[in-house]
Amino acid sequence: MKSWIGVASALIAGVTASAALAQDAAKGERVFATQCKACHTLERGGASVTGPNLYGLMARKSGGLPGYGYSEAMRRFAIVWDEKTLANYLRDPKGDMPGTKMVFAGVKRPDQLADLIAYLKEATQ
Ligand code: HEC
Repeated sequence: MKSWIGVASALIAGVTASAALAQDAAKGERVFATQCKACHTLERGGASVTGPNLYGLMARKSGGLPGYGYSEAMRRFAIVWDEKTLANYLRDPKGDMPGTKMVFAGVKRPDQLADLIAYLKEATQ
């Protein structure tokens, strides 16, 4: 009896955890739609509009999309995009990377930034 309760609560905890993650990414999708979509596409082979296509972003080198005309600052920045480097850049693009040509004030709300990054991880792979 006891072990059943243990299994059941472990299952419930697992379901709740994945539901919470899914919800974050869903909220992040709205952040992307309102703040990024005008300039970026996410799908494989998507067009580079004003900004570069972001497919495969995680673990991609900054300024690494062949054929896109990055700023000097982006080409020289030489980092790999992961949760931390993205958070720094998206919170304050020009503060993080002086000279970037991404004209965007930054996502200032920590919850929106976390949701957005959760969504980007899912949607760019
Ligand atoms: C007004 C257009 C515009 C908006 C809005 C915008 N970006 Fe950008 N983004 C750009 C441009 C232009 C670049 C290239 C910057 C450079 O070369 O310095 C860029 C670069 C990037 C890069 C680096 C990509 C690479 O290949 O290294 C990421 C990541 C990124 N943007 C994510 C976002 C996200 C997420 C949002 C929404 C929160 C956003 N951008 C909003 C125009 C925009």
